[in-house]
Amino acid sequence: MGMTASEVNKIKQAIPAPGVLPVIHERWSARAFADREVSGEDLKRVFEAARWAPSSFNEQPWRYIAGVRGTQTHRKIEESLVPFNQQWARKAPVLLLGIAKSTFSHNNAPNLYAVYDLGAASAYLVLQAAALGLTTHQMAGFDREKARTLLGIPEGYEFGSVIALGYQDDPETLGNKELINSETAPRERKPLNEFVYADWAKPLEWK
Ligand SMILES: Cc1cc2nc3c(=O)[nH]c(=O)nc-3n(C[C@H](O)[C@H](O)[C@H](O)COP(=O)(O)O)c2cc1C
Repeated sequence: MGMTASEVNKIKQAIPAPGVLPVIHERWSARAFADREVSGEDLKRVFEAARWAPSSFNEQPWRYIAGVRGTQTHRKIEESLVPFNQQWARKAPVLLLGIAKSTFSHNNAPNLYAVYDLGAASAYLVLQAAALGLTTHQMAGFDREKARTLLGIPEGYEFGSVIALGYQDDPETLGNKELINSETAPRERKPLNEFVYADWAKPLEWK
């Protein structure tokens, strides 16, 4: 017998750091998706969270194409994915594509922070999803030109990630050893001293 979804969920939790929002430790990227719909209310809630992300000049350059399973949009996003991602992400009840408008609306100048801001909105989105008991898995592995053509995305909009959204299932349902191993492996992160500097490449000392 393999592990259940809730056993895996325990392994994947980060060690809670006191005072950090619990949802930050609880979120992780599952690949096993249950055959269970996401309610319209919850779908709306994750976008409501994305909506309140900060952005350069408050441009809010993010756009999301939302494909619910059974629709043409879901099929088109699925078709754009690389085969590795297709094999598991096609089961997700919702596939989202994050896109950013590359120019500012107030003066048409290039917005060098467009994708950065889309990333911030998507970070809010995935944390809100975790707070609702949903899992998300972002993907860079998709064919951008295919997605642009299939979904009719005009020039002047650049790509972020595809986000699979739904409920976590038991890892065995992935039916592929490599995927099952990665689904049940503990999550890893660099320690703070590798990325918080007091001076270039000198770790900040904590008092
Ligand atoms: C922008 C982005 C692109 C990613 N692309 C893929 C992908 O194409 N396929 C995949 O299986 N996982 C992908 N991931 C998932 C990462 O591998 C995962 O977030 C990372 O290993 C950390 O694991 P965690 O999210 O469970 O903490 C991507 C994540 C991000 C944020």
